[in-house]
Amino acid sequence: MLRAVVVASGAEIAPNRVTNPMMAKIMDTSDEWIRERSGVETRYFASPDQATSDFGVAAARRALQAAAMDPSEIDLVVFATMTPDHYFPGCGTLLQHKLGLRDVPCFDIRQQCSGFLYGLQLADAQIRAGLARTVLLVGAEVHVGFMPWTNANWDYMIGTSEVAPTPEEYAWNSKFRHLVVLFGDAGAAVVLKGQEGERGVLDHILHAEGADYEKLYVPGTGFKHRPYTSPEQFERGDHIPVMDGRFVFKMATTKMVEVATEIMARNHVGVEDLKMVLMHQANKRINEYCAKALGFPEPKVAHNIHRYANTTAATIPLLWDECVRDGRIVPGDLVLMIAFGAGMTWGASLVRA
Ligand code: ACO
Repeated sequence: MLRAVVVASGAEIAPNRVTNPMMAKIMDTSDEWIRERSGVETRYFASPDQATSDFGVAAARRALQAAAMDPSEIDLVVFATMTPDHYFPGCGTLLQHKLGLRDVPCFDIRQQCSGFLYGLQLADAQIRAGLARTVLLVGAEVHVGFMPWTNANWDYMIGTSEVAPTPEEYAWNSKFRHLVVLFGDAGAAVVLKGQEGERGVLDHILHAEGADYEKLYVPGTGFKHRPYTSPEQFERGDHIPVMDGRFVFKMATTKMVEVATEIMARNHVGVEDLKMVLMHQANKRINEYCAKALGFPEPKVAHNIHRYANTTAATIPLLWDECVRDGRIVPGDLVLMIAFGAGMTWGASLVRA
């Protein structure tokens, strides 16, 4: 049977390291709160001249290099992000151009933290259907544009200015503290190739439910508004995501456990058969809860939220890349991926490396 095999991966982390105490310089938060409630210790943010497609391109270059593959071999691009460079076109064609690929089709996936798993299902289906042989699947994000702080606050946070935020700026930044401490910027990519045999994507289950979309969404800067963006929206902060953290926490733990149980049962896979479990990294406590409920022992569960925070669509390929590089995943290993994100969307994939 023809399967989509992950033949190589690559990643690129944003250059500006921001620790929790640095964040506490410009908003009412603390290293202790962020570590205890989310597991995040540091995150990396993009520089002003860097956009999502740049991280996708850098990660894709590394993946192509690891595959010893010429870019001309790619015959489909799938790009998952919730922070595209432009409203349109999506990042897929931008990446195609910057990498110098042929005029192959490019899909853009907008399923937030589940984006990589939605992209993986699409890439696998295209390969199985014989529509593509070699697919470049990318997840990348630049969340820093969502952040409430001014450029002057940013300079103060990273230590290039001595000008502290005004009390009003400090209060404004603090209004979004439950959200902004959780995210970081990065890109990661995998190359998938159609191959006969046991390796490759074995199964996936995807779900979505729009009923509670307002628990995690961006209220402004959308075509529901006339005009789609306006100074008033920015004054209200409607360009910054709204998140009901407790609701999302509960739904994520419930749905991730359910979908992992579902995919393991229908493939007759036990915990002992899995080499690694790659869960989306939104909050370490979510993953600890799921690991405990599913009986996954600690060494099988990969974490990187402490270093990179939530990198949304980049998270799972970033974890994959790290595990391949440090030998936790080798060819033949069975890997379970689980994600939950805005929409609400969630899913799981079983992949033999
Ligand atoms: N620093 C200090 N205090 C804070 C901060 C902060 N950064 N953020 C919130 N608090 C305060 C709150 O104001 C509140 O104070 P109060 O009790 O005086 O009112 C207190 O801490 C507790 O707040 P909760 O929101 O109840 O804290 P919780 O333990 O739920 O943690 C968190 C909040 C981290 C957001 C958690 O709910 C969470 O991780 N939720 C899920 C996030 C997620 O999965 N997102 C989906 C992925 S993102 C995507 O798809 C785009």
